[in-house]
Amino acid sequence: MAAPRSTSLPVLSLAATPGETAVLVLPTRAGDESVAVLGDSGLADAAGLLAREKAKGDAGEIVSSPVLGDAPLERLLLVGVGDGAPSALRKAGAAVARRSRGAASLTVDLRGLTGLTDAGLRALAEGALLAAYSFTRKAKAEPRVLSRITLVVARPEALQPAADRAVTTATATAAARDLVNEPSLSKTPDWLAVQAKRLLKGLTVTVRDEKALAAEGFGGVLAVGQGSSRPPRVIEASYDGGSGPHVVLVGKGITFDTGGLSLKPNDGMLAMKTDMGGGAAVLGALRAVADLGLPLRVTVLVAAAENMPSGTAQRPGDVITHFGGRTVEVLNTDAEGRLVLADAIAYADSVLDADVIVDVATLTGAMPVALGRRHAGLFASDDRLAAQLEAASAASGERLWRMPLTEDYLVALDSPIADLRNIGDPRTKLQGGSITAALFLREFTGGRPWAHLDIAGPGRSDGEEDELTKGGTGYGVRLLVHWLEALATPARTGRKRSA
Ligand code: BES
Ligand code: MN
Ligand code: ZN
Repeated sequence: MAAPRSTSLPVLSLAATPGETAVLVLPTRAGDESVAVLGDSGLADAAGLLAREKAKGDAGEIVSSPVLGDAPLERLLLVGVGDGAPSALRKAGAAVARRSRGAASLTVDLRGLTGLTDAGLRALAEGALLAAYSFTRKAKAEPRVLSRITLVVARPEALQPAADRAVTTATATAAARDLVNEPSLSKTPDWLAVQAKRLLKGLTVTVRDEKALAAEGFGGVLAVGQGSSRPPRVIEASYDGGSGPHVVLVGKGITFDTGGLSLKPNDGMLAMKTDMGGGAAVLGALRAVADLGLPLRVTVLVAAAENMPSGTAQRPGDVITHFGGRTVEVLNTDAEGRLVLADAIAYADSVLDADVIVDVATLTGAMPVALGRRHAGLFASDDRLAAQLEAASAASGERLWRMPLTEDYLVALDSPIADLRNIGDPRTKLQGGSITAALFLREFTGGRPWAHLDIAGPGRSDGEEDELTKGGTGYGVRLLVHWLEALATPARTGRKRSA
């Protein structure tokens, strides 16, 4: 199936020879004593240029040379590809695309790069496309000029499937970034539902409004959304690839998180339009899964609400009833993500009969304190699932780190009047806010294989770095797509594969 083209990304194609281009790129690699240009640079003394610039051939390192004359070719870039591994090629692709944003076309001649694999080409292409992403609401916006990226390889037909997968994955990631970057003035739960339908044309998308949510008992989503004049929604979208395990992906869709009556200070609220990054990631991943036609059944649930303080807002001390009947004492209205997710996870367990559940959420400020801004926290009830996600992380470039589900901390969630409390009891002095949040979610999984990705750190970026652009990163799309691709491809171990 042809990949949809997002207007926010350049068009990527493969070719056997370089055609007309504004920027031509050649890879360079560090040798024993010098840096080698891989291919014919057309420069009189490319090696001398690299030496003069003290180039080392590190991944993403660029040496730039203007090309004089009135030919379409304006600039020659020499880009380091480090050890040539996919992660290095991803950096190189991102570096050349970022440097070429102001040029109309970019051609990367990879013919000199021996041993280029499908994974290497895909990583380079994804890096280039994602670094070229932009989002703006300026009145006089300068449009992104770079509209065409061509990768020159010896046998384009052989690498075309890898290039297609890169375009599909990057396009889905860009769609997720667009949703995250949308300001919350327009980004209401209903807006998100409308966007989900638009993005997932051709798939089944069902939206539950506040009446349906009340009728079916989605008490967590309703409680979080009740303070806002813009009512909550649960978005359910599904793709049926005919066979395979039933995967349910759950995303946190808080379209703005003020904290509710447990109000955040302004600094803590500034980035909270991005609190639906998990929801955006699972929607993007589903788009890609459908475009790739993977033989799996995938259902996505996005629990969308705006967390506002008002006369109708939930109060600290309220007891709410989640989907399926569990009760929760809400002691901090700013721990709202777990409340909306609990309903969706319980629904995935008891109604959807999921074989595996993965939720993605900007859940706790403690997560980036522990792991920094580049790694997501991975919590998993199942070691095999955790290993699969770790492998997908390594392949996709979206970093994660496994965290413990410390059983001893469960007591911190004891409530005297409800089944659970929504924040760890500070009197237990157990700390570990990201862990207690994960343990809270696990209570709703019905013991099914489940993983939770806390993306509070990597869900957004404060600057431009490698393939990341400022704002929403779309974290989770690439990871989930790589995971689901692997799940759909039976490993050649001779053993029977089970869900
Ligand atoms: N959306 C926030 C978590 C967050 C913080 C994401 C910073 C990205 C950056 C979440 O809803 C929240 O407010 N969590 C609280 C939980 C606490 C009240 C137990 C937090 O982390 O402070
Ligand atoms: Mn919150
Ligand atoms: Zn939140």
